[in-house]
Amino acid sequence: MASDLFTYKGIQFAKDIHSEEYLDYAENGFTVFDDDIFNVTYPKSGTNWMIEILNLIKYKGDISLSNQVPVYMRSPWYETVNSKEQIDALTRPRIISSHLPFHMFAKSFFNSKAKVIYTMRNPKDISVSNYHFAKILRAFKDPESFQKCLEDFLHGNAVYGSWFDHVKGWLQMKDDDRFFFITYEELLQDLRGCVVKISKFLGQELDDEAIDLVVKHSTFKSMKENKMSNWTMMPDDIIDHSKGCFLRKGVSGDWKNHFTVAQSEYFDSVYQENMKDFNFTFFWEEN
Ligand code: A3P
Repeated sequence: MASDLFTYKGIQFAKDIHSEEYLDYAENGFTVFDDDIFNVTYPKSGTNWMIEILNLIKYKGDISLSNQVPVYMRSPWYETVNSKEQIDALTRPRIISSHLPFHMFAKSFFNSKAKVIYTMRNPKDISVSNYHFAKILRAFKDPESFQKCLEDFLHGNAVYGSWFDHVKGWLQMKDDDRFFFITYEELLQDLRGCVVKISKFLGQELDDEAIDLVVKHSTFKSMKENKMSNWTMMPDDIIDHSKGCFLRKGVSGDWKNHFTVAQSEYFDSVYQENMKDFNFTFFWEEN
């Protein structure tokens, strides 16, 4: 879907934001500190939302950083080109984002005490969010049609590869005490409860007042109103602001407004084929 792609280790990446050299550095050269916190997602799963939440937890609900630094610079994606300077400028504990699949993640992470928060989202909603994002991100070609976008998504012809492989790869860590997984849908359903659980996992338990502040400043409405969180600071040569907003709808189930019955059935059959041996029930399958 992106205008200029290349394949590295069987996964598609975008020339505008990745390079082989940097991906190799991310896997083999990047030094992970024991107190690092990684915000890992497949794209369009709520990455920026989690950046907002984690940084607010770090600062006990204080909004100063969220009012001063664009969300995508608060916790840069360490595998993207030119991120090193931004990562080096982070204060400890560093909150670092990544969309990398499990098998390409920083080797030094696996010998560290660093933690990962892995956020997942109903893949039908991811494909819709991705379709709209492709229209505003200039590095991506305008999507030909929703159908084409859906097929690309289902067959892993997407930047960062297959959603199925991403989720199955990362969930190998599900019983590791350095790994915390959560869904976008749980965040929507009970943001406060999720903030409490995440803070606990990070060993940064907050008092009620601080939790209230984290919740208040990380709602869709607050982020949408904050120019440092809504991506309007992203330069025009990267995002075509005339074509839509990054913080688009922020809901679960928008796929129902986009999928035909045939598309939904097709999606379900590919989903079942890919997940049939994977013994895990996702939140969106239960609700
Ligand atoms: P939609 O396009 O469905 O609205 P990512 O950060 O991984 O790129 O994910 C972007 C998606 O997360 C977008 O979904 C965006 O609106 C949604 N999002 C971001 N912040 C949110 C929030 N505070 N509450 C709900 N959804 C949010």
